[in-house]
Amino acid sequence: MVDEVLTILLAQNVISGEKISRILGVTRSAVWKDIKTLREQGFEIEASERSGYHLVSCPDSLMAPLVHQGLQTEWAGKRIYSYDTIDSTNRRLRELAQQGAEHGTLVLADEQTGGRGRRGRGWITPKGEAIAMSLLMRPEIPPQRVSVISLGTAIAVAFGIRAATDLPAMIKWPNDVVVNGKKVCGILLELEADEQSVHHVVAGIGINVHQKTFPEEIAKTATSLDLESSKTLSRAKVVREILKAAEHVEAIIRNGRLLDVYESLSVTIGHPVCVYAPAETFEGTAVAVKETGTLIVRLASGETREVVAGDVSVRGLMGYV
Ligand code: BTN
Repeated sequence: MVDEVLTILLAQNVISGEKISRILGVTRSAVWKDIKTLREQGFEIEASERSGYHLVSCPDSLMAPLVHQGLQTEWAGKRIYSYDTIDSTNRRLRELAQQGAEHGTLVLADEQTGGRGRRGRGWITPKGEAIAMSLLMRPEIPPQRVSVISLGTAIAVAFGIRAATDLPAMIKWPNDVVVNGKKVCGILLELEADEQSVHHVVAGIGINVHQKTFPEEIAKTATSLDLESSKTLSRAKVVREILKAAEHVEAIIRNGRLLDVYESLSVTIGHPVCVYAPAETFEGTAVAVKETGTLIVRLASGETREVVAGDVSVRGLMGYV
């Protein structure tokens, strides 16, 4: 019910506790309890006997009503589930998808205790510092085309970060988003499909926003939006811009421009790379990405190799020399 009280406070300049209790069909003391909870979470709410409650300021929160405020999308984020703490937003959204959640459903968390990363790794989302978001898509495509969603999600995040922060967000193959050569965002796509069709795709997006330091293992390769912009940014705004960009990317895909846009944002294509594929490690120059998501690398011998899965270091980025 705290969400409903916040939604009302966001919509009204001043409103009495009695009126809120009537709108929601609850007691005045229940309303008062929610006001207390919101204050504990950092919402500044003035109360006057005569006129009622007035929301003065909001903290940097990912509560659904705050993210919804000013969100002008058709499907992305129409329904938002927001959690203080959860194991993994991807796991939760998969559960909701299996219960029939609709295209565009979003799960957000202020903290993850079991965040999942690519290639079986973990992902850390420290409380209040980052964004953990998972967007549900039910695209009408065969499973072989799902890489379009993977590349498209990276484009949406890069565009969203650019719109919210003015930072020059770029993409490192396949779908890391980097700013000034360091990683700010990781994307993990999980899908359920049969041979003919995709039932759903969960696009899990983890963004470093307020962190000032990182664990030693990633300290040289990771950064946050605040560190790069020297500002304290609004997480809700970043989420809104990414949702808006996701709908824009849908149009880019429809118009057959996905690979052009991907290439224009890529820090990998055209650069010397070292590929750590499951079976071997080799160096070359990344020359292109195909719609299947495959990276084409030209070796010094002139021979080209197709990289379907693996990690790639780009010379000059993230400490790779
Ligand atoms: C990577 O390894 O680079 C991908 C990291 C993806 C992390 C995000 S955070 C939100 C969503 N929930 C998860 O458990 N993982 C993804």
